[in-house]
Parts: sequence; structure tokens; C-alpha cells
Amino acid sequence: MMSTLVATNTSESSTTDFLPLQGTDYVEFYVGNAKQAAHFYKTAFGFESYAYAGPETGMKDKVSYVIRQNKLTFVLTTPLKTDNPIADHIYKHGDGVKVLALKVNDATSAWNETTKRGGKSYLQPTTLKDDNGEVIISGIHTYGDTVHLFVERNNYAGFFMPGFREWKSNYNPASTGLLYVDHCVGNVGWNQMNPWVKFYEEVMGFKNILSFDDNDISTEYSALMSKVMSNGNGYVKFPINEPAEGKKKSQVEEYLDFYNGEGVQHFAIATNNIVQTVTELQNRGVEFLTIPASYYETVLDRVGKIDEDLQPLQNLGILIDRDDEGYLLQIFSKPLEDRPTLFFEIIQRKGAKSFGKGNFKALFEALEREQDARGNL
Ligand code: FE2
Repeated sequence: MMSTLVATNTSESSTTDFLPLQGTDYVEFYVGNAKQAAHFYKTAFGFESYAYAGPETGMKDKVSYVIRQNKLTFVLTTPLKTDNPIADHIYKHGDGVKVLALKVNDATSAWNETTKRGGKSYLQPTTLKDDNGEVIISGIHTYGDTVHLFVERNNYAGFFMPGFREWKSNYNPASTGLLYVDHCVGNVGWNQMNPWVKFYEEVMGFKNILSFDDNDISTEYSALMSKVMSNGNGYVKFPINEPAEGKKKSQVEEYLDFYNGEGVQHFAIATNNIVQTVTELQNRGVEFLTIPASYYETVLDRVGKIDEDLQPLQNLGILIDRDDEGYLLQIFSKPLEDRPTLFFEIIQRKGAKSFGKGNFKALFEALEREQDARGNL
């Protein structure tokens, strides 16, 4: 198992960070039917209605529903007409993630600093105003058709941003305990991982904190390579995967085929109580990859003592891994749409800062059973 932990000098990076980020601001999905998608994420994952924009608020060509749970904000956007870039995005990719929005104190500086380092502009700094104040947004392109928006909202007291209004609903399912985005993984094409690592290093000032090569991530199973990119304060982590040659078709290649290009593969969402969260999600119909009983026969030999009882973890299919700093509990959903593209990971960290390398074998076997059932192995 060859993985490399690269030490970063955090005191140095905090003084030289040209792109200080306060975390994920929101994630925007372009979907075929935002009204139904909002209902699904509320019902299944426990999000609350928060804000709405559409023809009633002056937005003629699209509708957006904003839903929220703790520090997680999702925006679900659907086009109202066929002839526009959102409709094109959905035609090409199916439902998927368009915007990974990052919270900043200065969206103008974020745009200046990234574009002068070679970032391709998506949106010049733009001030949106209403009676509640102003939000400044800017943006650059990243892999595929995905973009990063920089959002400066220190001077805004309204719902989400100008153009939106409060979305009040009589239907508000209870939270499932989902807290915030732990990391967000992108799948890129063959030989494209290193160019995108370079992009995050040079354009956004991120560091490569962890690497997995195809020896780690198996030649026997559907292989991939991965490098984890982190910003200076560690609030934003973007692992980048590319497919690798193996005996079977890479799971990343299957994604690229069905998403029709590069894009977001999964979000890991943090919880403080994974047993409670996953019990609730399963009760609400969220489907997860299943793990064979044999995994649990030996897992404690590998990870040592943990606080949780093993039986509930096994009943739910939760995986366990340990690194030098502690352990983590994680589970992976099945794809959230009919194409085998975007899925979620639920993660509870108990000291560990890594990504569950010890679970790759069990996980990939589970993924391959699904891939095989789809006829794509
Ligand atoms: Fe992950």
C-alpha cells in the first residue's frame, strides 16, 4: 500500500494564502425537475425549504429551490425552456452538479487572483443587490462543465441572495443529522488527474495532501488513481480521480461514459452520529452499497478498538478505517439518479483525517457487483 502523506506548513500557507476560503457556500445541481428533486432531498435526506427563485421573483427562464440542513445548502435548478445552457447541460449530463460555490470575504480578489494565475473566467465579479443588502459573486471553470463560484455574502441579510425569496413550506421532515460537506470528489479523464492537480495548486493555491496510485486502488478490481487537494485551512478538500487500467472496466470510466464527460462523482457529508443518520436515511428509502458479512469478521483486527458496537454498523453496512490520528466511519449511497453518476458518502470522523483507503477493496467489490448488474464491467 503506497500512499504518500505530504506535510504542509500551515503557518506559512495561512500567511501566503491568496485564496482564503471559509468553506463550501452551496452546491447547485442542474436537474430535469427541480420541484420533484427538492421534495426528494427534503424527504429522503432531511433538508428544509429555504429559498425560491422563479418567474414569480423575476427570473423568467429558470426555477431554483434552495434547501438547507445545518451548514449544507443545495440549490436545485431547472430550465423553463429548451433553448438555454441549463437545458443543454441536462441533455448532455443528466442531472448533475454544476456549481461548487465557495465562501469568501472578497469575491473580487478571489476572481483576480485565480484568473491571473490561469483560471478561465466563468463570471466576472458581479454585485447583486436588493433591500436586504448585497452579494458579490464571481467564478471560474474547473473540470468538465463544472464551475467554482466565489460568494461574498457578509453584507446580505435576506434569503440566499438577491432574486430569491423565502420558501415557506408546510412540509418539513426532520433533519437526519447531516452537517456539512467534508470533501467533494471529481472524476476526470484518462491522464487528466495531474493537470487538474496542477490547476488546484497553481490557480487556487491548494496542496496535494494525499495520493493513491493504482497499486493502492487495485489492479484486480476496477482501478483508479486519486490525489486529494486541500486548501490552506483544510476547510475545502477536492480529491481528483482518474481511471486506471485493470482487469475490469474502471468505475471512473463508467462514470465518464454516463455523465458524458468529467464531473462531480460524490460528496462526503459529515455527521456526528453515523448510526442514527444512516438508520434514518435507510428508513426514508435511501439505498446504500451493501457489504458482505465477511468484512465484519476481520475488520476489528485491522482497525483495533472502536467506541461503537459492531453489530449496528454491520446491520447498516457502515465501513471502518483507521489512520495515525484516529478512525473514521463511512458508507456510500447508490447513485442518486438513474445514470450511475453522482452519489453521496456519509462520514463520521473520530480523529482520522484520511479517506478510508483500508475500505477500498470491500467498497470496490460492492461497486463491481452493481456495475456488473448494469452490464458495464
Ligand atoms: Fe469520499
